Amino acid sequence: DLSALPAQFGSAVEAIRKALPKELASPQWGIICGSGLSGLASSLEDKVELPYTDIPGFAESTVEGHKSSLAFGFLSQADEADAAKVVRVPVVACLGRFHTYEGHSAQACVFPVRVMRCLGVSAVVVTNAAGGLHPDFEVGTIMALHDHLSLPTLTSMNPLIGSNLSALGPRFPPLSNAYDVELRLSLFRAAHRLGIDDASMQQGTYAYVLGPSYESRADARFLKTVGADAVGMSTVPEVIAAAHCGMRVLAISLITNKVVLSPYFDTRKALNDELRNSAKTTDASEQIRADKNEAANHEEVLEVGRIRAEDMRKLVQSVVCQTVL
Ligand code: 6GU
Repeated sequence: DLSALPAQFGSAVEAIRKALPKELASPQWGIICGSGLSGLASSLEDKVELPYTDIPGFAESTVEGHKSSLAFGFLSQADEADAAKVVRVPVVACLGRFHTYEGHSAQACVFPVRVMRCLGVSAVVVTNAAGGLHPDFEVGTIMALHDHLSLPTLTSMNPLIGSNLSALGPRFPPLSNAYDVELRLSLFRAAHRLGIDDASMQQGTYAYVLGPSYESRADARFLKTVGADAVGMSTVPEVIAAAHCGMRVLAISLITNKVVLSPYFDTRKALNDELRNSAKTTDASEQIRADKNEAANHEEVLEVGRIRAEDMRKLVQSVVCQTVL
């Protein structure tokens, strides 16, 4: 019931509906595309794209590699069960998302998810680029989230803070089952069908950090020690908002880099070598260079996104078309 929500919801829904043909106005799935993963838009049929600036209540996203529009269209595929039949599913996709590190409030970051719910969406796929903490997760690994670890929302940045929007969901929603098991299974089935190899298809716990700086080594060691397998700067606010309003959630991380967990430069040893005059002078400078090479950077994140974007696109398309909601 839109009238029970703050006016910005009604205004957003009205602006969107006005811009869409009728068959696109009630999408079943919502998709939120992470860094470098907006390529999904290319598989939308009968696509209508609305810039965020045309939708009341939407902030503007500012990150390189992120677009800034809401795309509507159909994902289609031959039916698994009956190849003569084509499944065609209306979806809405966020090309570009809002992050808390841009200075947006957690509430502003989840506005698009809630608008999706208002449009009738009942399941969302949330993607992101993340750093790998688990030693087996090589660059390019696709990780289905089965849980999250979120210091920001535990301590202050929870999008549900404020008076509860009871038209959307309960005051105290549980998150113990936020990551839908059936959808995760559907993703693994899709990966199997697509021939994606087992080692690059994983599941794990995602640690949400505010950013925008990447983790220090000690931050990373801490997150790994307390059970995180990957770390990133998004997704959890949207997942919380989606769980709050009763939507099913599939969240997928693309591991774009391995988080630095290697030992520190041994300054004492380097000095002793120098004093004993046994230092091959290159040793220290080589390690310093190696350390610098390991550091996380946004260009690398975008590049891995480009390389794996096609697999991510096919996976999402397959899950959406082969899952009965
Ligand atoms: Cl290493 N850290 C965080 N916080 N976000 C990332 C990342 C690392 N790699 C991609 N996104």
